[in-house]
Amino acid sequence: MLLNSLEKTLMNSPLRWATQRYMDVETFLAMGGKTPGGRVLEMGCGNGRGVELILNHFGASHVDAFDMDAGMVALAKKRLARRGQQVAVWQGDAAVMPLATASYDAVFDFGIIHHVVPWRMAVAEAHRVLKTGGKFYLFELLAPFIQHPLWRTLLEHPQEDRFDDSQMAKQLQEQGFTLLGRRSLLGQVAWYVGRKD
Ligand SMILES: C[S@@+](CC[C@H](N)C(=O)[O-])C[C@H]1O[C@@H](n2cnc3c(N)ncnc32)[C@H](O)[C@@H]1O
Repeated sequence: MLLNSLEKTLMNSPLRWATQRYMDVETFLAMGGKTPGGRVLEMGCGNGRGVELILNHFGASHVDAFDMDAGMVALAKKRLARRGQQVAVWQGDAAVMPLATASYDAVFDFGIIHHVVPWRMAVAEAHRVLKTGGKFYLFELLAPFIQHPLWRTLLEHPQEDRFDDSQMAKQLQEQGFTLLGRRSLLGQVAWYVGRKD
């Protein structure tokens, strides 16, 4: 599901940059470490800042990234143009990824799976495209946040069949990930790193 105008403004603001840099990146590094020289995929890349963070802080050598929103893809392409062949960005859907099986060392989800109606398919796709030993880094908004009356009024998210912390952790494990790290903040948002064994 695409973002409404308030969420789009928030996602393109310095506030999102700061939380992504100092909360998501630091938590991911503490849980799962870097992916030196890795070939990495980011699902739902938004304006492309996540791709820069992956290159600058995780040691990736190449990042592929996609987003469902053509406007976000255009912003990301503009931001990342100077990276040349190190980056590829396209419009796509996290639930159905036309990508080769076992082709990435890491997959990143900076807060997009809660926008995907068939969210289990996005988890399954991340698992499929990872090589054995590859890592899935996720930051997610959980059902109590999505379904809170304030956020329901201000933001636009799918409401049916959302996941809480336990449901996401269970889904990751059932999909075949070993959890290297799991951290929830007041049951509202959570970070996970899973390894494909
Ligand atoms: C909350 S924003 C996060 C953007 C970026 N990852 C960040 O952290 O700033 C969610 C992003 O997911 C994208 N999105 C929503 N549903 C999607 C889907 N099914 N497949 C790919 N991207 C999707 C939206 O267009 C939006 O850019």
